[in-house]
Amino acid sequence: MAKIRLVHRCTECGTAHPKWSGKCLTCDAWNSLVEDFEGGDEPITSLAAGMALVPAGEPTQIGKVDASVGHPRLTNIEELDRVLGGGLVPGSVTLLGGEPGIGKSTLLLQLLANMSGTTLYVTAEESAQQVRMRAERLGALRDDLWLLPEMSLPHIITAINTVRPSLVVIDSIQMIADPDLGSTPGSVVQVRGCAHRLVQEAKRRHLPIVLVGHVTKEGGLAGPRVLEHVVDTVLSFEGERHHALRLLRASKHRYGPTNELGLFEMTEQGLVGVPDASQLFLADRRTGVPGSVVVPTLEGQRPLLVELQALTNAVSGGAPPRRSAQGVDPGRLSMLLAVLERRARVSLSSHEVYASVVGGVRLTEPGADLALCLALVSAITNTPLPADLVVVGEVGLAGEVRQAAQISRRLAEASRLGFTRAIVPANSPDDLRGIKLQRASTLNEALTLAGMPQ
Ligand code: TYD
Ligand code: MG
Repeated sequence: MAKIRLVHRCTECGTAHPKWSGKCLTCDAWNSLVEDFEGGDEPITSLAAGMALVPAGEPTQIGKVDASVGHPRLTNIEELDRVLGGGLVPGSVTLLGGEPGIGKSTLLLQLLANMSGTTLYVTAEESAQQVRMRAERLGALRDDLWLLPEMSLPHIITAINTVRPSLVVIDSIQMIADPDLGSTPGSVVQVRGCAHRLVQEAKRRHLPIVLVGHVTKEGGLAGPRVLEHVVDTVLSFEGERHHALRLLRASKHRYGPTNELGLFEMTEQGLVGVPDASQLFLADRRTGVPGSVVVPTLEGQRPLLVELQALTNAVSGGAPPRRSAQGVDPGRLSMLLAVLERRARVSLSSHEVYASVVGGVRLTEPGADLALCLALVSAITNTPLPADLVVVGEVGLAGEVRQAAQISRRLAEASRLGFTRAIVPANSPDDLRGIKLQRASTLNEALTLAGMPQ
């Protein structure tokens, strides 16, 4: 029997340190060390024991591998299927992270009720009565949806053996404990050990399992990063708690792309998919306001129109003025401020700068550069951009406007929503009807086309 000793484990990277310190010496995370137990050289997880139980695979010619088990099954929730690239793959383990109250349990109850076949909902946080009441409201009462209020991993596995479900949801992984692991529920050892065991069960039974994971205030999944490596797919559910819009994305997906965005609205009847996202994002837009510009962006395969806003404010002396970027990469904002100053003689060095994307969308692609530059110039010159204009293009360090991917699809979406003018990179294709293209090869040309004072 290995000797058990107290260690201080980093909740970010999972490293065990003999002594506590304010900062993890492995990954440099602050305040991430928690007390934990370790047995001899082996962490007390069922990992080592579990590995031995799983039959080791035999070498197989690649063409003879049975690919049929790897095909996704539709969840029948369109926005979820979009993010998953066609549904849940049998034997896959998916982690759904999100802040408390964002709607994880609601989404998964709807998933359980929509998926065909017998499904099992392990509720470790809410009572069976609470879940039933919610299911009534959601219209999710179904004979083949089974509920198990349980926190103990061995009991959950027994229930899987009895119910033989074709989908299991565990709400949440942080509340589940395996008595064999010896550590307290929610500890790194427990979370990781239970997740490992569930992954083995999923693979062995070709059973898809979805785990709910709590997210810390900083936005990371509580528990070690290791959990993200253990599962096949990591989904995050985001949105402003006080607004109805919810965004679902995949940050890791072994069975498909990670750039698709799913959109839901939280209603009285639970989460409802939002097929026409552009319209929703532009619903509250006020035209004729300086600093506002509409960008036709791409989220995976889906063109999406979003409003980008900038606000500038002159400050005098003292510390460097504040730069705040919401939904825009702060590094990209700094770079574009430098390009504006050097290439277009627009200086914002004595101004506070706020840039924000409306509706919780994150603009991660360089195709939004030109729009951000125009929003900034529009804000500082107090000159509104035309209401019927969209702007797309990447901006280089020389102040040149570069091509953005799939421009035709973006502009088709803009045209559908009634926009009639687009400032685009000079070499864009001209196969578009209903929208007037204004071609710019430099930032300065774009500023002139948009009617900005020089
Ligand atoms: P919930 O799914 O419990 O969030 P999580 O599991 O992520 O903590 O959802 C919580 C919120 O959603 C709660 O404040 C009530 C709201 N809600 C609705 O607005 N409509 C509904 O139909 C349901 C079930 C919940
Ligand atoms: Mg919940």
